[in-house]
Amino acid sequence: MKKDRILVTGGTGYIGSHTVVELQKAGYPVVIIDNLSNSNRDVLDGIERISGTRPDFVEADCTDIDALRKLFADYPGIKGIINFAASKAVGESVQKPLLYYRNNLNTLMNLLDLMGPNGVKGIVFSSSCTVYGEPDENPVTEKSPIKKATSPYGNTKQISEEIITDVINSGAPFKSVILRYFNPVGAHPSAEIGELPNGVPQNLVPYLTQAAMGIRNELSVFGNDYNTPDGSCIRDYINVVDLAKAHVLAVERMLDDASEEKIEIFNLGTGLGTSVLELIGAFERSTGVKVPHKIVGRREGDIEKVWADPTIANTVLGWKAESSLDETMRSAWAWQCKLRERGIM
Ligand code: UD1
Repeated sequence: MKKDRILVTGGTGYIGSHTVVELQKAGYPVVIIDNLSNSNRDVLDGIERISGTRPDFVEADCTDIDALRKLFADYPGIKGIINFAASKAVGESVQKPLLYYRNNLNTLMNLLDLMGPNGVKGIVFSSSCTVYGEPDENPVTEKSPIKKATSPYGNTKQISEEIITDVINSGAPFKSVILRYFNPVGAHPSAEIGELPNGVPQNLVPYLTQAAMGIRNELSVFGNDYNTPDGSCIRDYINVVDLAKAHVLAVERMLDDASEEKIEIFNLGTGLGTSVLELIGAFERSTGVKVPHKIVGRREGDIEKVWADPTIANTVLGWKAESSLDETMRSAWAWQCKLRERGIM
């Protein structure tokens, strides 16, 4: 049976591109909208090399509601939306709060505005474990308290969850699945797509692979005096392909009306906490490549430890993180090597 068309906003980005591939594998025709502010057109070639199908692509900004209206007119029959289009750098959001509020919130509100009139059944929203702040207890469940956001970026995730809830509670004719990601890392095993940070990476794994490649002198480990077994911060690192697969299940759930609930929230993590030093160890062990690194002071605003209780995603969504950390580290390295081979980095 022919499947319904899915709109993926931010579909040439890191998590978006991996999700497009999984949607295509599951038989969904995909249309991507992306303003290419943090990605580029070549990603479409990577997607096509993996899946054999080039997704439809519209270069436009989701804050431009007329562009979105045109997209719905040009690509009829969109039944689901996955909304990745957002700015995501914590530090930058402190410097440019309005950019973050405008971009992330207007995009969401435009989409919610157009869903009803265009007969879209559901929207998957990319939220983050950042909503839990520094948790009182780990692992965190979906019922763990939401803490006051410490950055405009984090605040856009909290406000977005509230906007979706208010709109659906007002009787809007669609559903939503809110996915709270922990720390997505790694790349597609084909090394055809992966994370392509602009400038100096802010996140751990792209910095680590660049340091291993010699692009950066050494990785700074931000603090070894935390209240954790080895003193470095703990996160839940989730393989990006595993994460992408959860989106397909979320879309299916909404399109099939599998749940009575109009809004569902799922933590997407492995359930395992890994420290920064353990991650470096896993990378070195699994690839045989050394990561030059040094311990430096804490990074302002960092959370000491957070990892997921993914039970609800496991049992209700039917999703489970499958890749090992070693496998994931190897995929991150293969991607970095591919970038070097292509002369990109
Ligand atoms: C944070 C947010 C997450 C957000 C992401 C976007 C939390 C818990 N998470 O992730 O919601 O989506 O930013 O960027 O607030 N580290 C180093 N050296 C580096 C870089 C990082 O030691 O050069 C350490 C950090 O101190 C941290 C870990 O690596 O302990 C992960 O950092 P990072 O990849 O930036 O992600 P988060 O800060 O966890």
